[in-house]
Amino acid sequence: MSTTPLFATQVYRSSLRMRGLRALNAQLLREIRQLRVDDKAGRQWSARHYPGGFTSYGSASRLHRLSPTFAALERHLIPHLRAFCRALEFDLDGRELSMTDCWANIMPRGVVHGLHLHPHSSISGTYYVQVPKGASGLKFEDPRLARMMAAPPRRAHCRQANRSWVTFGAQSGHVVLFESWLCHEVPSYAAPGERVSVSFNYSWF
Ligand code: NI
Repeated sequence: MSTTPLFATQVYRSSLRMRGLRALNAQLLREIRQLRVDDKAGRQWSARHYPGGFTSYGSASRLHRLSPTFAALERHLIPHLRAFCRALEFDLDGRELSMTDCWANIMPRGVVHGLHLHPHSSISGTYYVQVPKGASGLKFEDPRLARMMAAPPRRAHCRQANRSWVTFGAQSGHVVLFESWLCHEVPSYAAPGERVSVSFNYSWF
């Protein structure tokens, strides 16, 4: 007999592992903090949709087109995007995935980014610029959960592949990529310091 995992949900993560990473992170951090000062519309949007935190999602969501630093990050992410597409075995013959949105997030303690997905996109992801010790990771939810009408709960220490929720720890200098339909959230945390990240979407149409 055998059991076969089908319809796998794949999530990619990697360190950026490149020369000059420390300098890139320092510059990203400077620009994101400056953006919080300058971007009044973003602060107002965040007050309504991301209370206690700052995101440029509603105001400056194409930072890779505005800043050479974010454009450099976009370039450094390309090999990771390609590796993930290879793992997913996407047939992109004659098409190309390109970054459509790129925004910055500052999440202090006590702030929550609730469960959501990224409509109108193919691949989404986050790059971690600064992660204080004890800050939250990225929590994914099983996309089949709504169909599990009478499924028994899983054992507390079951294999990761059988869990309904899996959290990937956030680490500075690391990138996480996932298919945009996959629901995810960032729970709150109690540690001091600001968790700073850059999120992005890729699309092929
Ligand atoms: Ni998201």
